[in-house]
Amino acid sequence: MKIIDNISELKKEIAQLQGSIGLVPTMGALHDGHKSLIDKAVSENENVVVSIFVNPIQFGANEDLDKYPRQLELDSKLCENAGVKIVFAPKVSEMYGENKNNLTLICPPYGVVDKLCGKSRPGHFDGVCSVVAKLFNLTKANKAYFGQKDAQQLFIIQKMVRDLNFDIEIVPCPIVREADNLALSSRNQYLTPSDRKDGLSISKALFNAKEMVERGIKQTRVIIDNSLKIMEELDVEYIEFVDKNTFEFQEEIDENTIMLIAARVKESNTRLIDNINL
Ligand code: PAJ
Repeated sequence: MKIIDNISELKKEIAQLQGSIGLVPTMGALHDGHKSLIDKAVSENENVVVSIFVNPIQFGANEDLDKYPRQLELDSKLCENAGVKIVFAPKVSEMYGENKNNLTLICPPYGVVDKLCGKSRPGHFDGVCSVVAKLFNLTKANKAYFGQKDAQQLFIIQKMVRDLNFDIEIVPCPIVREADNLALSSRNQYLTPSDRKDGLSISKALFNAKEMVERGIKQTRVIIDNSLKIMEELDVEYIEFVDKNTFEFQEEIDENTIMLIAARVKESNTRLIDNINL
């Protein structure tokens, strides 16, 4: 496995690869959720590239860019053991030159970024799309792997690929959870023991909603009321229901509904997101 931190070397290595290329874009602090994407990529491609880059242009001014966990050595070991060919871990200046505020960006349309995470994190998805597009170009990947954990991100990347005719297949991967159903996230490292306990109520609310729908309840209002009770220890940012094919909001649940939650735990103020296919 090669660990590469610059674009010219990456291009040289990519040019020499034989067979299909699978890309797994990440910001590092790799956990079993990332590993499930990597394992799927390794099983489907001759070559797998994992990018590890804490992308500053997708963080807002008051977000956790500086404290975001960075652990390249550990991450590289995980990649090597999983059968990855290349870890691409560039510095910010290598990706964006000296002025990251003067870049050509890819901006998804208002209708998909004015809601959910895009609403509370203005500019976030411009940063995500722009870095992902660069990684697609740099790696010439045939397939790229994204987690359903970040459902809105996945939807937006799929739309970008369609709208801009990128020659790449996006492979969605299911959410990986701890034994108690907490969705794995690099940000779980911030949680205090009491946050960890409170944070569990997010997946509890989602799984409870699924049970209610299975019992025949279709009104989102009823499910929201119940979820708010389950999550009373949290600062809930949103509980929303969208059609998975359009990301349009729904008032009544059907077979295409995804329920999404974003909430903050109180002690560390960590923002957690999770979702479920109802
Ligand atoms: P990051 O948060 O590191 O996530 C990298 C990929 O891992 C994303 O596709 C995410 O959905 C997936 N992932 C994270 N936790 C998961 C879990 N519990 N189960 C399944 N998949 C999971 O998402 C980003 O980085 C960035 O926005 C990026 C796409 C790399 C662009 O900078």
